[in-house]
Amino acid sequence: MDAILVLNFGGQYCHLIARRIRDSGVYSEIVPNDMTIDGINDMKDRLNIKGIILSGGPLSIYEKDSPQMDKGIIRSGIPILGICYGHQLLAHYLNGKVVKAEKQEYGYSHAVIKSAKGIFSGLSKTEEVWMSHGDTVVSMPADSEIAASTENCPVAAFASKGMKVFGVQWHPEVVHTKNGKLLLDNFIFGVCGAVQGWNPDKDVSEYTDMISGKVGKGNALIALSGGVDSSTAALLSSKSLGKRLTAVFIDTGLMRNNESEQVKNIAAKLGINLLCIDAGKNFLKALKGVSDPEEKRKVIGREFIREFEKVARDVNADYLIQGTIYPDRIESGSIGKSSVIKTHHNVGGLPSDIKFKGVIEPLRDLYKDEVKKLALKLGMPKNMVYRQPFPGPGLAVRIIGSIDPEKIRILRRADAIIAYEAESSGFSDKLWQYFAVLTDIKSTGVKGDARTYGSVVAIRMVESTDAMTANFAKPPYELLERISTRLTGEIPEVTRVVYDVTHKPPSTIEWE
Ligand code: XMP
Repeated sequence: MDAILVLNFGGQYCHLIARRIRDSGVYSEIVPNDMTIDGINDMKDRLNIKGIILSGGPLSIYEKDSPQMDKGIIRSGIPILGICYGHQLLAHYLNGKVVKAEKQEYGYSHAVIKSAKGIFSGLSKTEEVWMSHGDTVVSMPADSEIAASTENCPVAAFASKGMKVFGVQWHPEVVHTKNGKLLLDNFIFGVCGAVQGWNPDKDVSEYTDMISGKVGKGNALIALSGGVDSSTAALLSSKSLGKRLTAVFIDTGLMRNNESEQVKNIAAKLGINLLCIDAGKNFLKALKGVSDPEEKRKVIGREFIREFEKVARDVNADYLIQGTIYPDRIESGSIGKSSVIKTHHNVGGLPSDIKFKGVIEPLRDLYKDEVKKLALKLGMPKNMVYRQPFPGPGLAVRIIGSIDPEKIRILRRADAIIAYEAESSGFSDKLWQYFAVLTDIKSTGVKGDARTYGSVVAIRMVESTDAMTANFAKPPYELLERISTRLTGEIPEVTRVVYDVTHKPPSTIEWE
């Protein structure tokens, strides 16, 4: 399959680049910035690498420890497009000059296109583009020509004379750049000559064949949480293995109100046989005294596997199937050297002495919305496909600090109130997730003329399409007021309610 690699220099839009390319029907993978040309050549038995995009990044290229790249990649003849930091790094390596900009540009800018060739063909004389940079390229890289300038940026874009290497200071991957898609498509198809071959919901048989190929004649377990990822993985596995598949739902004791009932209903609707294991006591015991978020995730990952191993022995299963998706692996730092944002319970949390013959992750290369498309293709009802995600570690990562049954009880009630109010007002239709967080802050209050000293609950409501970036939602004050009144009125331990107004990035959706 033709593929475009994205070299990750740590930019917040790195994922968007890969997403845009996939949306154009070409497979794209993110690789670490220190990937060498030999490493890329090693990928060639799996992928037909047609081009490489260098992402943006938060640092200046002159900063100590700023990410660099193997110059062999630039000399390899593979078409390259540098974006923002990638543009500056390319210019620097090709003997151009990069300096700290007198005026930094954040937001809209107008680029005057000087040469509508290569990736710039079809662009107007002046293009509305989206910029976010502190450094700027002021003199041309060798053997290149200036393709565009803005008021503050003389080399806002360049093209090598051979038309294989390009740099753009602006971000074509964000929707604010009007013709960003055209520019990226020009690169992928016009310059790289890539052929569309990526359609995540096209060949269901490719997924089912892969599963049956790996499991052979044996049996497998699937970890079913009721979320769209594991439900889709379960549907694929069930199509592939039939009765040789056992779906297992582990009730960790860290679930939302009625979660187990809902998961049982989901499995019944999908025609999947489900084994429910009540493991609440084991999880609570293992989490006793654990307050570090990464430690919590690791403990939970380990407990999950221990529970699955017990079931596996009973049903004689050799393989464990999981609904891990691409961002889980990236955020867990399991893709090359990408930094660990948080250890997803189903990736970095797996213990090294795992007793299965293997773990199968049929959705490991997909983004969330690609999984959703696949789920619809498989006939999953819409209300299941669009069910709000719930993290595997459950309420544990929404209780800040150590966990005990009392805190779980408080948070579960708070979560149910928020869910009910967001859903009955219809506001939840706009949201990716809406939930409560039990902070570890105590605060003074006054209830019924008496002093109280209790917990602070945070409300988190976010809009997102793939959870890689998210915006805090702006609910009507009336809705927030209703929720706040109910939280403080119906849960005696809660004295104060706050609303989280942080986007992702810089924060993450979950608090831990
Ligand atoms: P963050 O908090 O990283 O979350 O912005 C992104 C999305 O992933 C969910 N999430 C998880 N899901 N296991 C999961 O299955 C995990 O360990 C985990 N951590 C976060 C989160 O709810 C959000 O939708």
